[in-house]
Amino acid sequence: MLKQKVVLIASLLVALYFSASAQRKQITLHNGWKFSKGNFIDAAKPNFNDGKWKDVTVPHDWAISGPFDKEIDKQVTAITQNGETKATEKTGRTGALPYIGEGWYRNHLSLPDLKANQKVLLQIDGAMSEPRVYLNGKQVGQWNYGYNYFYIDITNDLKSKDNVLAIQLKNMPKSSRWYPGAGLYRNVHLIIKDEKSIDQWGVTITTPVVEKGFAKVNVKTKLSGSNLRLVNQVLDSLGKEVAVDTAKSFFGQEADQNLQVLQPKLWSPESPYLYTLVSKVYAGNELKDVVKTRFGIRTISFKAAQGFSLNGKVRKFKGVCLHHDLGPLGAAINVAALRRQLTILKDMGCDAIRSSHNMPSPEQLELCDEMGFMFLAESFDEWAKAKVENGYHLYFNTDAEKDIINLVQANKNHPSIVMWSSGNEVPDQFGAEGVKRAKWLQEIFHREDPTRPVTVGMDQVKATMQSGFGALLDIPGLNYRVHLYEDANKAFPQGFILGSETASTVSSRGVYKFPVVKAKDKQYDDFQSSSYDLEYCSWSNLPDDDFVMQDDKPWVIGEFVWTGFDYLGEPTPYDNSWPSRSSYFGISDLAGLPKDRYYLYRSRWNKTQSTLHLLPHWNWENRVGETTPVFVYTSYDSAELFLNGKSLGIRKKDKSSPQNRYRLMWMDVKYEPGTLKVVAFDAQGKPVAEEKITTAGKADRIVLTPDRKEISADGKDISFVTVSVVDKDGNLCPTSNQQLSFEVSGGGKFKAVCNGDATSLESFEKPTMKLFSGKLVVLVESGTAAGKIKLKVTGGKLRAAQTEIITAKN
Ligand code: GAL
Repeated sequence: MLKQKVVLIASLLVALYFSASAQRKQITLHNGWKFSKGNFIDAAKPNFNDGKWKDVTVPHDWAISGPFDKEIDKQVTAITQNGETKATEKTGRTGALPYIGEGWYRNHLSLPDLKANQKVLLQIDGAMSEPRVYLNGKQVGQWNYGYNYFYIDITNDLKSKDNVLAIQLKNMPKSSRWYPGAGLYRNVHLIIKDEKSIDQWGVTITTPVVEKGFAKVNVKTKLSGSNLRLVNQVLDSLGKEVAVDTAKSFFGQEADQNLQVLQPKLWSPESPYLYTLVSKVYAGNELKDVVKTRFGIRTISFKAAQGFSLNGKVRKFKGVCLHHDLGPLGAAINVAALRRQLTILKDMGCDAIRSSHNMPSPEQLELCDEMGFMFLAESFDEWAKAKVENGYHLYFNTDAEKDIINLVQANKNHPSIVMWSSGNEVPDQFGAEGVKRAKWLQEIFHREDPTRPVTVGMDQVKATMQSGFGALLDIPGLNYRVHLYEDANKAFPQGFILGSETASTVSSRGVYKFPVVKAKDKQYDDFQSSSYDLEYCSWSNLPDDDFVMQDDKPWVIGEFVWTGFDYLGEPTPYDNSWPSRSSYFGISDLAGLPKDRYYLYRSRWNKTQSTLHLLPHWNWENRVGETTPVFVYTSYDSAELFLNGKSLGIRKKDKSSPQNRYRLMWMDVKYEPGTLKVVAFDAQGKPVAEEKITTAGKADRIVLTPDRKEISADGKDISFVTVSVVDKDGNLCPTSNQQLSFEVSGGGKFKAVCNGDATSLESFEKPTMKLFSGKLVVLVESGTAAGKIKLKVTGGKLRAAQTEIITAKN
């Protein structure tokens, strides 16, 4: 009996030992990095003295600290895509931040003791740009495209200890049309696993049959090593097993299994249900590897006449395009910042993202799976023909295929991804070679992933109608050109059109210009654009024009608005006007604060909550008696406006013009200070909601509103604190541009600040900034100990404010 027990305990211990040692380890190299900008001949060498280099954590963007400088990447060029024919001096096109040049990162790897049968991979999720990777002085890998993920097997180049990793990066001038960021701006991982194991990105999950009562889940698993046993198990979101299968046969190095999930819960933006596939590899009884992969069960279809369906239900994409930078954090990815963006978009009713014009970060895709966003994952802004002198065309012929392979292989199991894009407004839309390239790229996508269609964002619609370029795509995507939708739909055989990029309407948060008129490429002396949302780019149109197409044409399958948030660089319509250095296109500004237009989209897209939003602000000391139109963006059909208790009439949405169809507008209001009130009516004419704005008095005090009051003590989490200034009665002072100062104490630090002003040259990283239209946002970062962080904000004679943020260990 005793003997039996001992044997049992011993075998349990052995099993535990093996399962512990078998668990593959993924170590994210966040700490321990040294960085320096410059060209160092010897920096790859292990004994190079990096003592004077800066200590940094990765993700890291070396350029975001600034300073802004007009001379950086000044481009004397005609932006032909924007219809320009004459070259002019463009400042701020790439953000006017010091991203150009060479930079080096070094890290001394502390690895656990490796066993003879272990393999080590180094995975870089994106490095800007042209990373050259050195281990112990030897080059072990390289990649050109700064937006892509790649991994290197470094097993044979590792020493038993004292391993030095050095990564060289290089950014050329004139290499981008927006701020690309600089450095190791995404995560770097080490993956340690047994040599008998699942290959990196080796699990492919598809759901070829989805019925009401069951789903067939197909799993293909690529393995290294022979005589292995593979068990694949599906867990539901609570971790309960719902299917399990041991692979019966192998096809070369790949197993192909079909599992059945009964009563599957389907993934959708409204109900983003996720399953987990646990793949276990055994050699005999020894557990060699475990890989967990989250996936969703859902169907997609794109059909003529019917358009796009998710899980059998026709729907239209309510999407936004996003560039990859996170405003004041630059390109350095941060999960809290990404989650905040998606939270803001969710409230607007947005259900889809397009990663314009390159590979999204793994973290963004994971969040989209979890929070429920469909995803259009894009690859390139250039093919073989140039848009900018040192753009991707330099690498297209040699790298495009491997770049697509990695995009697809790294991301294929995300249920959020519903289509791929092989390009955006590529100049190759012209000419027979371009048609061949479109076909070549699409076929690579199909080979790597037979389950998802491919689009291209096309702006040269007439050329692509004639050449066959548009006809060959799975999904014809039109960028702008609403006036060509009908013709394109007739010319293209697919039977539907996607608004792959729409609207390009420009505005500055809280800024209003008079007279209120529709205008193309309008510019003002202060380099701001009006938030009456009637100003747009010459190649584009107003949001309402897209709404008409979306609402009236069943063959239009949705839109991706340019853009969800402002981004660094491309300050159209002020491309020639220093100090403009970031975009005006955003529905929300660079700080993430919603502009008025946010509520226009919300009024259409958010189907679970009502919207009633009044504009402009009501502090117009110099406009007493002058015509000051009032707009209301609302999900209600009609409303009555009152100024100081006096009715200014009822407006009802009608089809007399696109604006009258989607906005309630009182064009002839004469300004007088006081209270502007709107009362909305339901379909029966009953008053159901109201909203007010009151002229603010003298600025009195500062108000702080954190987006999250409790954050994780992981040294990376961020609370975004909106700072505003109000009068003694609590009314927002909408024109205040007071200089404020920030002080963070306790278990965290001041990370950054942003006011959303596209012309501001103040540093994002110094604890002082001017308000813009009465507001700004301070980013407070957690430390690694649980406790409290205090943020204190002061500004001249204003009453100061303080807020407390709790940091907790998860
Ligand atoms: C599009 C282009 C975007 C951006 C936008 C601005 O043509 O695809 O990257 O430049 O115009 O309106």
